[in-house]
Amino acid sequence: MTDSLTLRRPDDWHLHLRDGAQLAAVAAHSAAQFARAIVMPNLRPPVTTTAQALAYKARILAALPQGLKFEPLMTLYLTDALPVQEIARARAAGILACKLYPAGATTNSDAGVSDIRRIEPVLEAMQKAGMLLLVHGEVTDPEIDIFDREAVFIERQLIPLRQRFPELKIVFEHITTREAAQYVAQAGPHTAATITAHHLLYNRNALFTGGIRPHYYCLPVLKREQHRQALVQAATGASAKFFLGTDSAPHPARLKEHASGCAGCYTAHAAIELYAEAFDRAGALQRFEGFASLHGPAFYGLPANEERITLRRERWSVPERYPFGEGELKPLAAGESLNWRLEPGAAPA
Ligand code: NCD
Ligand code: ZN
Repeated sequence: MTDSLTLRRPDDWHLHLRDGAQLAAVAAHSAAQFARAIVMPNLRPPVTTTAQALAYKARILAALPQGLKFEPLMTLYLTDALPVQEIARARAAGILACKLYPAGATTNSDAGVSDIRRIEPVLEAMQKAGMLLLVHGEVTDPEIDIFDREAVFIERQLIPLRQRFPELKIVFEHITTREAAQYVAQAGPHTAATITAHHLLYNRNALFTGGIRPHYYCLPVLKREQHRQALVQAATGASAKFFLGTDSAPHPARLKEHASGCAGCYTAHAAIELYAEAFDRAGALQRFEGFASLHGPAFYGLPANEERITLRRERWSVPERYPFGEGELKPLAAGESLNWRLEPGAAPA
C-alpha cells in the first residue's frame, strides 16, 4: 500500500475566491496547496473588463499571507454587451480565458449571456486570439429537470457552438454527468473538462442523508451514482482532457442553511486531500499527478510546475468551521476524517 505520494505542485483550474474580507479568509487555503488557479469572475458586480480583472488580481495577491507563492490566473465574465475590442486588451494583459455563464444558471450569473448567438463576434475574437472559453454547461430552461440540464446543454448549445468555432479552446467546467464525460472524451483536441472533488466523491444521496444537507448543494447539482462512476472513470483514465478544478465556492453558513440556500461547496481547505481520497478509492493513485498537475497546464499551453508536494496517508479531522469575514464557513466534510494529508511546506524541485 502506498503511504506517501509526491507529485508536481498542482493547479486549480476553477476557483471562486470572492472579495474583501471573504477573500482574505480563504486565499491562504488555496495558496497552501496550489501554484496557480483560474479565478472565476462572478463577483458582484462581475469582472467584465481587463482593468477590473487586473485590480482584482492585485487584491488577491495582497490578501495572501507573506511567503506563500501563488499565481491567480484571471478571467473575464462574458455578458451580452462585452465589446469585441476587450478581447485583444485582455489577451495583451495576460488574461487567458473568458467565462460563459448562461444568464440565471448559477450564483451571480444574472448578468450572464442570454443567448450564445449574441456573443459570436466575441467568440470569434477569442478563437483568433487563442483565448479559452470556460463554460458553465447547464441550460436555464425552467421546463428542464434540474438533473438533466447539463445533458440538454450539450445537445442544444455545446454541439452547435463547437461546430461554429472549431478551433476555439473550450473547457466544459465542473462536469457532473456520464453524458458530459462521454462528450468530452470523443470531442476533438480543443475540448477539455474540469471535475470537482465533490462530484468524484458523492452522489445525490449526500444531499438527503439523514435530512436535507445544504453544504452538499452546488451547481451543477450532484447526480446519480452512475454519473459519479463515469466521472471517476474519466478522471482516472488515460485521457489528458480531464483535469482538476475544485469549484470551491464559499458562502456564509447562514446563507446555505437557509430557506433558499446558496449553491456552492467549499473544498479549498482540503482540496488535494479530497481528490487523493477519490483516486485512492478507485485504485488509481498512479494517475493522480496527470489529473492534478499535468493535463491542465498542457491544455492551457502553460508549463507544468517544477515544485513538488507530498501527501501522506494519515487520518485527520476536518475542522467544523472556519472564520469567513463577518460570518463562518462550513467546509465540505466538516468534522469527518480524511485519510490523506498534505505535508506542510514544499519539497525541493
Ligand atoms: C458557484 C458560486 O457560488 O459562485 N456555485 C456553485 O454551486 N458552483 C458558481 C458556479 O460555479 O456555478
Ligand atoms: Zn464555479
